[in-house]
Amino acid sequence: MLQLFATRRLPDAAFAPLENLDVESVVRQGDDAIPRPEYLERARGCAALIVFASDLVDDELLTAAGPGLRVVANYGVGYDNVDVPACTRRGVAVANTPGVLTDATADFTWALILALGRRVLEGHRLVAGGSWNGWKPLALLGLELRDKMLGLVGMGRIGTAVAERALGFGMRLLYHNRRRDEGAEKALGAVYCAELPDLLRSSDVVSLHTPLTSDTHHLIGAAELATMKSSALLINTGRGPVVDEAALVAALENGSLRGAGLDVFEREPTIHPGLLELDNVVLTPHLGSSTEEARAAMAHLCGEAIAAVLAGKTVPHLLNPEVLLG
Ligand code: DGY
Repeated sequence: MLQLFATRRLPDAAFAPLENLDVESVVRQGDDAIPRPEYLERARGCAALIVFASDLVDDELLTAAGPGLRVVANYGVGYDNVDVPACTRRGVAVANTPGVLTDATADFTWALILALGRRVLEGHRLVAGGSWNGWKPLALLGLELRDKMLGLVGMGRIGTAVAERALGFGMRLLYHNRRRDEGAEKALGAVYCAELPDLLRSSDVVSLHTPLTSDTHHLIGAAELATMKSSALLINTGRGPVVDEAALVAALENGSLRGAGLDVFEREPTIHPGLLELDNVVLTPHLGSSTEEARAAMAHLCGEAIAAVLAGKTVPHLLNPEVLLG
């Protein structure tokens, strides 16, 4: 019987597509990241793995798993934790979970924009801390969104869904992307900025939706933060290392940036201590895709990919379908 190992608990929807296959599924009973030695040990002899953003799939893991490994399903759309070329070299298929978490993540991006722009957490702390003593004309004034400029860095599925929602708030749109997207320009009135500084200079809210690659690591550093308006907000629901967190803390401390809404961090789950000292931030624990619907659909896509590959078939969300031809 083939073995499947999932490195932490996930919705049962992952296992429905595997019901009629000769596969024994073992799920590690925990919600926390698996320690590396246990991960290497438990991958041994498996035909399929379900892994999460913190689980590196690299040469060491592939060697530990052995030649029987046929498919790795990454429970997330971002797959910077997976060395896809290394998997391809060994004939291991890799799947991710695109499409099904787009709305959840776009909604959550707006939760951060609104919470930060309208100072919801500062208000909550005032009320819950018992120190609110009445309505004041000048208390906790926030940023109004109508006619403001939203700058999207990355105009893939999630960036586009964030842009669609922006129209309801009456915002204007800029975007920076590797490729120009004339469809988005027509449908959303978004204006393309080939150069990132042009977007940063003109935006009131900058929202990051780019995958993490060697090109986007620290894409937003001290120089880029200095280019932004001091009245602007920075939102990151993509990947933490796209932002140089130390530079961000300095910009927030010295007032050269109004605020930051962060759902992802450079060294998760460790948070830069400077961020924890600040009032002008909203910090959430990587919740972008955390709706019941999205998480169940992500699980289903993982199971579907594993079932397909074990039957020698492909699915559209395989990142290296060429391994099935070999
Ligand atoms: C994703 O889908 O990439 C989420 O960030 C979970 O890793």
